[in-house]
Amino acid sequence: MPLRTRLTERFGLEHPIVSAPMAFVAGGALAAAVSRAGGLGLIGGGYGDGDWLDAQFAAAGNQAVGCGFITWSLARQPQLLAQALERRPRAIMLSFGDPAPFAEEVHAAGAMLICQVQTVTQARQALEAGAEVIVAQGSEAGGHGAVRGTTTLVPEIHDLCARCGSDALVLAAGGIADGRGLAAALMLGADGVLVGTCLYAAEEALVHPTLQRAMVAADGDATIRTSVVDIVRNRDWPPEFTIRVLRNALVDRWHGREDVLKAQLADAARCYAEAAAAGDPDESAVIVGEAIGLIDQVRPAAEVISSMVAGAEAQLRGGDRLIVA
Ligand SMILES: Cc1cc2nc3c(=O)[nH]c(=O)nc-3n(C[C@H](O)[C@H](O)[C@H](O)COP(=O)(O)O)c2cc1C
Repeated sequence: MPLRTRLTERFGLEHPIVSAPMAFVAGGALAAAVSRAGGLGLIGGGYGDGDWLDAQFAAAGNQAVGCGFITWSLARQPQLLAQALERRPRAIMLSFGDPAPFAEEVHAAGAMLICQVQTVTQARQALEAGAEVIVAQGSEAGGHGAVRGTTTLVPEIHDLCARCGSDALVLAAGGIADGRGLAAALMLGADGVLVGTCLYAAEEALVHPTLQRAMVAADGDATIRTSVVDIVRNRDWPPEFTIRVLRNALVDRWHGREDVLKAQLADAARCYAEAAAAGDPDESAVIVGEAIGLIDQVRPAAEVISSMVAGAEAQLRGGDRLIVA
């Protein structure tokens, strides 16, 4: 029983799964592996680095992929959008900021516009900007995000689209890492899912193996939303967004003491950079979400996708848990 949804129909996909454009983590190899496995892979354009972007599109080869940017950062170097669009991506995903200034350029190049949002108000703005796909991101998600939970945000944005007469697709993001999550997202009204954390543990991800081992070993209690990591990396994030990471020595030392950290920033930033280069999971950032509790191995992206789909199909057939009188 293949999972056919409006997402698979409109994008010509085998499975209703899109991979998150994880900055520094989702390179061309991961995006291409996800697309080859029947989903849609997105390169993590992140804060924007032209040389990195070119190298990752080259690594994706001829496989159809898309690309995502952090919108407030793209606004500081908007020429990167044209650079990505020259590579003919299937879609451009924009998150964390106003997508309106970029929408026309995306559409003129023949790409779909995917907007990731954390609130209903932002979903309205994304629809007004002409987004073809809205990603409703709940707080369980790894990486940057806000406070709403996935299980209420997804159906609320689905209802908003229906009320507006919009045929935009809705994807669920945040906490989805197996077939149960995919099946539940479809039941909530989503046309598919966008997943990040479960692919942080993919062999193709640009992640130091020690960080992957740390996330595989931890359970879902072990993450926290914080600003500490952005302070030590000198990333100027708007205050409404925090980053979900594995709680470690770095976070325990500074979370709640951000003012003290800012007063000693030069030293802390140097230590962080050294730890990140060495793949030290205690003193750098393991950027993952609550879904780590559902992940117990590092494996190829194709296996992550195929087991999620098989699990969802089994759930939707009802398994042997449902008692219907
Ligand atoms: C390591 C990592 C980096 C991320 N970087 C970005 C990013 O650069 N841009 C973006 O839109 N979302 C980013 N995200 C968030 C994802 O787009 C997505 O919302 C999230 O991964 C979904 O929840 P999950 O992690 O529980 O699957 C990142 C997530 C992770 C785990």
